[in-house]
Parts: sequence; structure tokens; C-alpha cells
Amino acid sequence: MATNFVVNGRPASTDAPPATPLLWVIREQLKLTGTKFGCGTGLCGACTIHVDGKRAFSCQVQVSEVAGKSVTTIEGLSPDSSHPLQKAWLATQVPQCGYCQSGQIMSAAALLKDNPKPTRAQIVEHMSANICRCGTYQRIVGAVERAAREG
Ligand code: FES
Ligand code: FES
Repeated sequence: MATNFVVNGRPASTDAPPATPLLWVIREQLKLTGTKFGCGTGLCGACTIHVDGKRAFSCQVQVSEVAGKSVTTIEGLSPDSSHPLQKAWLATQVPQCGYCQSGQIMSAAALLKDNPKPTRAQIVEHMSANICRCGTYQRIVGAVERAAREG
């Protein structure tokens, strides 16, 4: 049975078995490869997306769980890469290898949606769910602060 949902504002459908990780459907079927596979076990955040506006690790979400829901990936965060976080990321030159960064931005976007003016401690706590093997943590926190400040 098909699972119907919305991805980045557009209808999507998949015949993947209900327990298939959403991450695979996003990457392999929908070809939205900005969402990355890191650990596959909910420990790194590379696969972070939004489901109905809330942060989710897509490797831990079964596709059947998003039936009728709205999924946002990094490709749908803004129509022209003008989200305040994307601008702050560029201005601050956050990425090193870049692999974790779409997950970092999606995680930060969920934070700012719920809390537009987070404290530094709140940013650090929230972003601790996302691992960066290149150690860009200081620049990530700075970019989130900048986005919150400049909007
Ligand atoms: S790949 Fe999903 S949390 Fe690591
Ligand atoms: S920039 Fe390389 S893993 Fe984060």
C-alpha cells in the first residue's frame, strides 16, 4: 500500500514497505540527497529533517509514520537559500567537509522556529544532538546566534 505525504510542499508517494526508514525514501526514491546518512542509529543527526515542523532523525522514522504529514528537507528550507541560518552559515563560513551541515542547519532551524531568541546555553544544548567530526561546533553556535540576531 502506498504511503502518501508531502515533501517540501509537494505531494509525494512511495510503495516502500511501511517500516522502511524515511531517510532511504528521501534519498533513494525522491533523490533529495542533501539529507545524509551518518550512523543510521539515531546518534549523529546527519539525517535531520522536519516532520510537521518538528526536528526528526529520518533514519529513525518509519515511512508509515509520515503518512498524511509534511516533511521538510534541507532542499525545502527556503526557496532560494535565503533562510537566516543559510545566510549566517555562509557569512560565518561554518562548514569544513560539509557532511554534517545540512543536518546541523535543519536542527538549528527547528530550534529557532520554537525559540527565535535562544540563549547560548540553549543553542549548545539543542545542537548537542548533532555531531560534527570536523569540530565546527564553535562556528555553528556563532552562526545560530547570528541568525537569531539578524533574522
Ligand atoms: S544517520 Fe540518522 S542520526 Fe545518524
Ligand atoms: S563539517 Fe565535517 S563532519 Fe561536520
